[in-house]
Amino acid sequence: MKLNLLLLAATLMVACASTEEPKKGPGENPENQLGTLREAYKNDFYIGAALNSRQISESNTEQAALIASQFNSVTAENVMKSSQIHPSEDVFNFDIPDKLAALAAKHDMAFHGHTLVWHSQLSSFINDITDSTKMANALKAHIEAVAGRYSGKVYSWDVVNEAVEGDGSLRKSVFLNTMGEDYLSFAFKTAADVDPNAFLYYNDYSMTGAQKRAGVIKMVKKIQASGAKIDGIGMQGHWGLEYPSIQEIETSIEQYAALGLKVAITELDIDVLPNPDGVSGADISQSAELKAEYNPYVDGLPDDIAEKQAKRYADLFALFLKHKDKIDRVTFWGVNDGESWKNNFPVNGRTNYPLLFDRDNKKKKAFEAIMALKN
Ligand code: XIL
Repeated sequence: MKLNLLLLAATLMVACASTEEPKKGPGENPENQLGTLREAYKNDFYIGAALNSRQISESNTEQAALIASQFNSVTAENVMKSSQIHPSEDVFNFDIPDKLAALAAKHDMAFHGHTLVWHSQLSSFINDITDSTKMANALKAHIEAVAGRYSGKVYSWDVVNEAVEGDGSLRKSVFLNTMGEDYLSFAFKTAADVDPNAFLYYNDYSMTGAQKRAGVIKMVKKIQASGAKIDGIGMQGHWGLEYPSIQEIETSIEQYAALGLKVAITELDIDVLPNPDGVSGADISQSAELKAEYNPYVDGLPDDIAEKQAKRYADLFALFLKHKDKIDRVTFWGVNDGESWKNNFPVNGRTNYPLLFDRDNKKKKAFEAIMALKN
C-alpha cells in the first residue's frame, strides 16, 4: 500500500515536472516549432527589427504577435527621423514614437532611437540654416526635445547617421557646411548630457569599404579625443547575396571594436535582385529607372535563390556569433518582404525578398538557416 502511494506520488511528480517544462514535440505548436530568434540568441546579442507606423500600432494582431515573439529590440523605420518627429520648429509628432516606447517596454525590448543628426529626411527648417550658431542651437534644441523625451526609455541612439563619404572624407552636409566638423562631437556631447545612460552610436552604410572605414575610424578618434562619449558603431547591413565578403565584414567588425566600441549590425537586409551598375550601399537619394531585368522574380522567389539567401544569412550569423563579444545587436530593416523598403530602393516598384519572413509573415529558409546555427 505504502509502496503504491509512493509510486503514485512519484508518478505525479514526474507528471508535474513535465507540465512545467513542456517539450516542443513535432506538431505540438507548429508556429513555434523552430523556436524564436530572441530566445535562441538571447545570450549572444539583441535581435531587432525596424517597425513602420502600422506595425508600431499593432493593428495586425497576428503580425504583432510575431514581432513580440521573435525580436527583443525595436527601431522606428521612419517616425523618429527629424522631418517626421520635428517637422517645424515648434511642432513635434510624438504619438507614434511614444507608442513604440510603450511597445518596447511591454515586450521587454531594447528600444533603439534612429536618428538624431542626419542630412536625409531632415526638417526643412534645419536644412535651411546657414549660420553656425543657429545650427548649434537647432541641433541642441532638437536633441534635448527628442532624446530628452525618451531619456530612460531608449537603450541606445544613432546620434549621427551617414556623415562619411565612400572615399573617407566627411560628407558636405548642412551640418558640416555650417559648423565644421565640431558638429560631430557637439552632437555626441549634447546627447550624453540629455541621456547619460543611453549608448550612443555612429551609424552608416558601406562600412566595409577600406577607404570609408579608414575615414570613419579617423572621425571616431577625433570624437573620442574631444572628450565626447561615443559607445558604438552601427554598420548598416544593406547587403547583397555576394557583397560585401565575409572577410571584409569581419575585418570591419574587428577594426571598429578595436576603438573600444560596441558594434551593431543595424539595418540588415539581403537584396536578391540584380541592381543597376554603380549602385551599392544605401544612399537614399539614389534611384534608378525600373526595367524588367532588374525585377526578375515578380511571381515568387525561386527555390535556388531562397537557398542561396539562406546560406548567405547563415554565413553572416556564423560570423556574428564568432564575434559575439563585440556585437551588441543585430537589427533587420523591416519584418517581412512585402513591407521592405528594398521593394522601392534603389529601383522603385520591384518585388524584392530581403528579409526572414515572406509576404504572409511566414518563415523563409533564411529564418531556418539562422535558427539551425543554434540547434
Ligand atoms: C529608409 C526607410 O526604410 C524608407 O522607408 C524611407 O523611405 C527612406 O529611409 N539608411 C537609414 C535608414 O539610416 O533610415 C533608411 O531607411 C535606409 C538607409
